[in-house]
Amino acid sequence: MEYNITQYELEPGALEIQYIEENFNEFPRKKTAAEIVERLQGRAHLILLANAPIADDEQGAVVPVSFKVAHEIKLDEQDPKLADLVHRLRDHVEFPDRRILYTWIGGTRRDWRGQGHFRALTEQQEHWAMEQGFDEIVVKTKNRFYDMRGTLDHLRFEVVKYERHHLDNAESKVYLTKKLLPEIIGRHRSSRTVTQATI
Ligand SMILES: CC(C)(COP(=O)(O)OP(=O)(O)OC[C@H]1O[C@@H](n2cnc3c(N)ncnc32)[C@H](O)[C@@H]1OP(=O)(O)O)[C@@H](O)C(=O)NCCC(=O)NCCS
Repeated sequence: MEYNITQYELEPGALEIQYIEENFNEFPRKKTAAEIVERLQGRAHLILLANAPIADDEQGAVVPVSFKVAHEIKLDEQDPKLADLVHRLRDHVEFPDRRILYTWIGGTRRDWRGQGHFRALTEQQEHWAMEQGFDEIVVKTKNRFYDMRGTLDHLRFEVVKYERHHLDNAESKVYLTKKLLPEIIGRHRSSRTVTQATI
């Protein structure tokens, strides 16, 4: 299968992410386009969506079904949330003289899960990140996001930190990373067509 991926510029991409998140009932607080723009502007970032046909649609309509948004994080973050993230990671990820990409948000719409769209996006993200000179990709999840944990396991992310929640272990945070070593590209399995959104 050839995966169809679109890479977006900041503002149209933020709107696309806002629209696609409406389809996820597992996200308690959906991001607005404004929040996405605020987080990503002024820092290296990547907005990718995978598109696929709607089953049984006679016109063969293609819709965005999976997404992944990532941005760079640095030791001297000023934004309080990012400063806190870096503080929690700094003993577990080497920052000095290295570029770190943080996968902020992502997911696949329920009807299209298990078809490889998230793997294709992840592989494209890795390809882009290596071209841009990043050294490592970081992601944060929770114990209770079992589908995401299983998926990150298949995608060969390694746990670097576990932060136990004081009341409910299902809420505990898990931090995972993948070092962008040259051999990673040779292990990629998806065949992808990537287009740059023109709007
Ligand atoms: C996790 C999620 C993104 C996976 O998307 P997907 O498009 O179904 O994933 P893919 O089909 O590309 O699968 C990628 C790999 O993960 C594996 N995988 C997918 N879902 C899995 C699951 N529930 N458990 C274990 N492995 C899983 C696949 O088998 C595949 O491995 P392989 O390529 O080695 O065969 C999707 O289930 C999702 O959006 N879940 C909700 C998002 C969420 O929980 N977010 C929480 C915030 S972190």
